[in-house]
Amino acid sequence: MKVFHTIKEVVQWRTQEIDRRGKTIGFVPTMGCLHNGHATLIRQSVQENDFTAVSIFVNPSQFAPDEDLDQYPRTLPEDTKLLESLNVDILFAPNAKEMYPQGIPLDVSSQRGPFVNVLGVSEMLEGKTRPNFFRGVTTVVTKLFNIIMPDNSYFGQKDIQQFIVLNVMVNELFINTKLTMVPIVRADSGLALSSRNKYLSPKYLDISANIYKGLSDAQKSIEYSRVEAQQSIDRETLLKKIETVWEPYIITGDFRIDYISIADFNTLNELDEVNPTDKIVISCAVNVFDRNTNNTVRLIDNIVM
Ligand code: PAF
Repeated sequence: MKVFHTIKEVVQWRTQEIDRRGKTIGFVPTMGCLHNGHATLIRQSVQENDFTAVSIFVNPSQFAPDEDLDQYPRTLPEDTKLLESLNVDILFAPNAKEMYPQGIPLDVSSQRGPFVNVLGVSEMLEGKTRPNFFRGVTTVVTKLFNIIMPDNSYFGQKDIQQFIVLNVMVNELFINTKLTMVPIVRADSGLALSSRNKYLSPKYLDISANIYKGLSDAQKSIEYSRVEAQQSIDRETLLKKIETVWEPYIITGDFRIDYISIADFNTLNELDEVNPTDKIVISCAVNVFDRNTNNTVRLIDNIVM
C-alpha cells in the first residue's frame, strides 16, 4: 500500500503510475480510528474495483467551535496496518493545510475559500443539532473527489442523512462518481453497530435493541400496506407502531427521543402518508440514559425501503 500525504502524489499516482484505461478506482473517505464498519465499506470497494483508495483526514470544517477537534482520536499506525491487511492500494492522509490552503478556523464567519452547501437536506434532523456539519462534509468530500477522481465511492447507511446529502451533491454538481450505500451492520439483537455502543452496559445494550425493533414494526406495516393492501399508510399509524415499542423506556426516561423521521429518500421531506411506490427512509435519534453507568448515549438508526 502506498501512503501519500500530498495531493501532488495522489495525482501523480492516478495519472502516471497506474494504467487507468478500463480500470476502476473505488474510494472510501474516513476520519480514521478505523473499525469494523469501515472495514465493511473497504472490503466492498476492494471486491468491486481494480484499485481502492482510502483517505484519513479529520476534517476541521465539520466540527463546531465548541466541539473538541483536538480530542478526536488519531490512530494512524493501527489504521495503516488494518488498511494493508485489507489490500487497499493507496492511503491518502493529508494535513489541514493541504486540504484548506487558506487555513480552516472553526468559526464559520472567519472561514475563507470555497465551501459546498447542499440546501434543503442539510438543515434538518442531524443538521439541527450540528448546524454546519453537512457543509463541512460536502466541502471536504468534494475536495477529495476532485483529488482521487473515483469511479465508485462507498458510504455507510448508518449515516443516512450524510449519504442523502452527498447523493444530491453528486447529482446536482454533476460529479462523476457512483455512490454506493453499504447496509448497516447489526448485532444479533438488531442493534446497529456503533463505536458509541461501548459506553452502554450490557443491560442497556439489550434495551437499545428496541430502537431497531420499533423501526422494524413500522417497516412491517409499510410492507403489508404495499404488498397485501396496495394502499398508502398514514404517518400517525407508523409513529404509533414505533412509540408502542419504545413506550416502556420513554416512561422510565431511559429513552429520550431527539427525532423520528418518516421522509422521502431523495428530498428528506417529511411524509404525511407513505404510498406503495415511495422510496422512503425511517430514521431516528434517541438519547439512551444508562442508569448503570450514568452515561447518556445518542444512538441513530434507520431503515430504507
Ligand atoms: O463519515 C465520515 O467519516 C466523514 O463525515 C467523512 C465522509 C469522511 C467526511 O469527513
